[in-house]
Amino acid sequence: MAERLMKIYKEIKKVLLRVPLFFYYIKGKNFLNDPYYIEGRRQDKIEMSKRPLRTDIINFILSQFSRETLYLEIGVRNPKENFNKIKAAIKYSVDPGIEFKENPVDFKLTSDNFFKELYQNKILSPDIKFDLIFIDGLHLAHQVDRDIANSMNFIKDDGFIVLHDCNPPTEWHARYEYDYKYTPSFSNWNGTTWKAFMKWRANSSVFSCCIDTDFGVGILSKKKNIGQYLNHNMEFYEYPELNKNRIEYLNLLSFSEFKTLF
Ligand SMILES: C[S@@+](CC[C@H](N)C(=O)[O-])C[C@H]1O[C@@H](n2cnc3c(N)ncnc32)[C@H](O)[C@@H]1O
Repeated sequence: MAERLMKIYKEIKKVLLRVPLFFYYIKGKNFLNDPYYIEGRRQDKIEMSKRPLRTDIINFILSQFSRETLYLEIGVRNPKENFNKIKAAIKYSVDPGIEFKENPVDFKLTSDNFFKELYQNKILSPDIKFDLIFIDGLHLAHQVDRDIANSMNFIKDDGFIVLHDCNPPTEWHARYEYDYKYTPSFSNWNGTTWKAFMKWRANSSVFSCCIDTDFGVGILSKKKNIGQYLNHNMEFYEYPELNKNRIEYLNLLSFSEFKTLF
């Protein structure tokens, strides 16, 4: 009897799925009740509620210098969100204007072109050295890795590189495709920045840590011991490995712990 009822139910469902309204309802309901979706939304909300934000961390680091500071931001979008709130004597901004049409920045360039022009002495000065460079442009590992390598040549010996989006809370935040928004993370996208950060965490000549807030604020320094390098022999950087070992892999610290290092 139960078997027969189930068969009838399946037949009805098959017919209903041909009606667009029912199709959307049934598929939409499955999507919203999926455990991956529910857990992904939960993790997204937790991350969104964490404080402080990247701006406070950058301002804290800048406030540690007893001199006038020089700041560069790569990837700005709307400057009201971060750039305008940064407290530095001189500030420069770089963005090709992909996400925010007005794009009121100093250099309307991709980071690659910005550094190319800097090396070629076409903009600023090839001798310029920043106290802090904030990298928040294209969140794909190869690009972030290049941005870090270039930035290393333009920070002072005691300067810092800060990176947004180093601690993606789920694999959906760490997806490759920015434009696809129908995942549990919706438009929140950390991309594969974490892989570039991990690569530099494994560099024995650099100190590093990641503050556990605002999707992971990674920090690199040539001089200040903010955390020893990660001695690992991972061949590939895979998300499930990060998920299991994020405290060790990223040297994940709370902001309070970080502040005690100064
Ligand atoms: C996440 S937003 C930056 C957010 C901002 N830093 C903040 O804290 O509010 C990323 C920005 O990077 C820019 N971008 C994309 N590709 C880039 C590239 N190759 N070089 C520099 N910026 C890039 C986009 O136009 C976008 O405005």
